[in-house]
Amino acid sequence: MLDDGSANPTVGLQRCAAGHRERRSTVQLVPHAGSGETWAKIILFGEHSVVYGQPAIALPLRSLRMRARVSASAGLSMLRSLDYEGPLRESGARFACVRRAVEVALDKVGHPEAQLSVETISDFPPERGMGSSAASAGAVIRAVLGAFGVAASAEELFDLTQRAERVAHGKPSGLDAVATSARGPVQFQAGRMEIVPMNLDAHLVVADSGIRGSTRVAVSGVRTRFENDPGGVGEILEELGELARLAVRDVAEGEITALGVAMNRAQQLLAHLGVSDHHLDLLNAAAIRAGALGAKLTGGGLGGCVISLAPTVDAAVHIRSALRAAGAVRTWVHPLHPIRVEA
Ligand code: MEV
Repeated sequence: MLDDGSANPTVGLQRCAAGHRERRSTVQLVPHAGSGETWAKIILFGEHSVVYGQPAIALPLRSLRMRARVSASAGLSMLRSLDYEGPLRESGARFACVRRAVEVALDKVGHPEAQLSVETISDFPPERGMGSSAASAGAVIRAVLGAFGVAASAEELFDLTQRAERVAHGKPSGLDAVATSARGPVQFQAGRMEIVPMNLDAHLVVADSGIRGSTRVAVSGVRTRFENDPGGVGEILEELGELARLAVRDVAEGEITALGVAMNRAQQLLAHLGVSDHHLDLLNAAAIRAGALGAKLTGGGLGGCVISLAPTVDAAVHIRSALRAAGAVRTWVHPLHPIRVEA
């Protein structure tokens, strides 16, 4: 089952201004205000192979939030996001996913012509494999639906987010849409998700290389390799899937040493797929030298972040310093507390 992630309750609805009434014979409702929230994610195992139907396991990072606010706009739809402030329609390729999210949400509420002021506020950087595009789309969709007082099921929210994500990624697996609104570790395969138990006495260190990664470019690079060598690349994808499958058990049973070994193997396989790079390799090596049990890239790669597994909080602090010394521009330490799943 998908997380219900329901939009905040309607703040209020206002009868629209005369201008709208001139265009339409019926009185149109426009939103007063709405808000939505999602969060960052990291992929523990299964990036890229998940696109080919293999399983993946991802962790939502709920302390790194993506918030969206929408309200009625007197004129054109406007956007305030990252360093951009201006008309939504002029916001450029970087915000294509947010524009599409507004469109699909307005279609869903039955007011495609409504003009909105849209704002997103993020605790984590875009284009670093942390799920920013799915998170921003998901938060905006929830905010628009909330403003119009329209409820949506978890499946509908997933579907709307996927429609927006397609603008950014082409053919996203759906893992990011699910993980950026999930309330626990997620096992995902072929459009189906399950929250899985986690019982790890360990810390995860996330380090940002500072290099922007394009998931679209990375995914299409893997596609080209697969088309040129379906046998060889197919084997790599299958082994990545097997690592994810085994990791579900290790995550539940607290097998942190085995997880670390599997992370290192996944990193080797991802490098064979051509989605690692010099910066990510340097950061992974620095983490291992500093005592990490395992380290790998996370998300699309070709820039973005690496994750490393630390056996204690002291080790995590030490690894974080080593990552910074090796060039990481930002780091986050995330405790992997036990998470039980009700039967
Ligand atoms: C991107 O965060 C994860 C990928 O596996 C793409 C996808 O799942 O759609 C690289």
